[in-house]
Amino acid sequence: CGIVGYIGTRQAFPVLIKGLKRLEYRGYDSTGVALLSQIDMLNVYKKEGKVAQLEETLTSSDLSGTLGIAHTRWATHGIPSSGNAHPHTSQSGKLALVHNGIIENYSVIKERLLEHGFTFKSETDTEVLVQFIEYVKECNKVDTVTAVRLALNRVIGAYAIVLVDKDHPDQVIAARKSSPLVIGLGENNEEFFIASDATPLVEYTQNVVYLNDEEIVVLKRGEEMQICNLKNESVDPDVQCIEMNIGLLEKGGYPHFMLKEIYEQAQAMKDCMRGRLLEQEKRVVLSAVTHHRERLLNAKRVIIVSCGTSWHAGLIGKQMIETFAKVPVEVEYASEFRYRNPVIDARDVVIAISQSGETADTLAAISLAKERGAFIFGIVNAVGSSIARITDTGTYIHVGPEIGVASTKAFTGQLTVLTMLALSLGKEKQTVSTTEYEEIVAELAVIPDKMERMLVFDKQIAELAKCYTYARNFIYLGRGYNFPVALEGALKLKEISYIHAEGYPAAEMKHGPIALVDAEMPVVVIATHHQLYEKTLSNIQEVKARKGRILAIVTEGDEVVKKLADNVIEVPATLACLSPLLTVIPLQLLAYHVAVMKGLDVDQPRNLAKSVTVE
Ligand code: G6P
Repeated sequence: CGIVGYIGTRQAFPVLIKGLKRLEYRGYDSTGVALLSQIDMLNVYKKEGKVAQLEETLTSSDLSGTLGIAHTRWATHGIPSSGNAHPHTSQSGKLALVHNGIIENYSVIKERLLEHGFTFKSETDTEVLVQFIEYVKECNKVDTVTAVRLALNRVIGAYAIVLVDKDHPDQVIAARKSSPLVIGLGENNEEFFIASDATPLVEYTQNVVYLNDEEIVVLKRGEEMQICNLKNESVDPDVQCIEMNIGLLEKGGYPHFMLKEIYEQAQAMKDCMRGRLLEQEKRVVLSAVTHHRERLLNAKRVIIVSCGTSWHAGLIGKQMIETFAKVPVEVEYASEFRYRNPVIDARDVVIAISQSGETADTLAAISLAKERGAFIFGIVNAVGSSIARITDTGTYIHVGPEIGVASTKAFTGQLTVLTMLALSLGKEKQTVSTTEYEEIVAELAVIPDKMERMLVFDKQIAELAKCYTYARNFIYLGRGYNFPVALEGALKLKEISYIHAEGYPAAEMKHGPIALVDAEMPVVVIATHHQLYEKTLSNIQEVKARKGRILAIVTEGDEVVKKLADNVIEVPATLACLSPLLTVIPLQLLAYHVAVMKGLDVDQPRNLAKSVTVE
């Protein structure tokens, strides 16, 4: 979910709506705002659907006020509906609250409130929280800030909250635990902006404070912000300066963010390698490796934890780290790892991969590994995010904000960092030969140009996509470094075109999925030139023998597969370990064009959210 808040001198509503639109990728099934109007009325407007739908319904409403909070939701408790949308208000109608996260003990608290005569309008844990704050306030005869603190001390779960109190039109209260919240500071503290991440703030200010877990902040016009923790100890705000190019938050002429981000990959990869890949010197330098050399080189094992697309990047990273650094690597779904009581100790290095840096399961997996003494290395895109802050060290992928819900440039950025990491470790450990190391470094440097060249196939892929919109199932096959790419290609298609797709190691297909192959079944095979090329050819023959419809991703100039496949898309030749950086691009484009042909909402597919801050 996305949260925005404002207190200051300008009209809050436009700031809130613009901010919500920037955060819409975090969830978009219902939207709401609460405004403290000029005459101190608390006006709450909510609607099922996207931000624009709410905006349309408010043309004749009172939208005045220089203080407000707003929310765009990704449903956890209760269906998407205007009743379940945030902000939620307390019984007296004086408090309004927006919340991101989950209050795990909400049903116990709710029962208690019901016994005291409270009634509820929604099914959400958030309404329970705002009512509870009011209850604590009344019972203990305390001010709102104290009530928030006392209530949060009783709450189990994760939250980022922002609260307004009609009786205090001069203040906004916000707090966080395990769910991000950032405060933007206006000139002379005349105004403050609050948001789930920095994207809504960057057009107003560069000075921000990231709240830490269990901190509560009180914001008043013209006054320094006051932060205290749940124990009521005061905390000094750590003001940081952020730099973000606003252009990157706009579509820049592309019909969708996803297409823009696919096209940006060559530049994003250059940004990711800047200052790290020293072409002249034929080497890569990652400062995290330089600074933590001993700890990293002495790892007896590496465990990669991540979710979704980042997990697929981890599978490729495993192959590279094992090949070049000769250390065993396990790749775990963060959501499984955290509850598995894994055997892990101080000799382990955990690599956490996350685009958003906020994924709740990945955060929890890191905490568990940290408790057991493991050293944590983050590979994150969002600068200043929770994962970036709790890891021991790490390397940002620096590909710029990714807005499309289906991850694209973050994936290639993650692969780029994983390659540089595997090479650095291998070099330090002398487990990779100088020839191979220099060959990969030289090839990495030219991959962005090869990516760029591939975009000419976009039209061809768009044409091809027309032939596939009928499909209800797809199989994606790959081997070696390209097996995870098959998984990623299938995930992209599922996410945005709602076609069921399975990624499989090509040779494993004969142990089950081959039963699905018939003349209707599109089979996408990654069959580029590498050591398993011949084997992949046999797998293509197996599909062909069952009349499957083959779309093959091949190396430029390949004539053999061309004869077997119904369609081919060519990618430039490269080294096997770097081939995923190229082979994934046609699969991203294919998923994109199939979804567009089907008239679907590419950037905001149903039921998904970009940043999953709940478990
Ligand atoms: C969500 C997104 C995916 C993403 C996954 C992990 O499910 O929709 O695109 O791969 O979370 O996110 P992270 O930010 O941790 O990489």
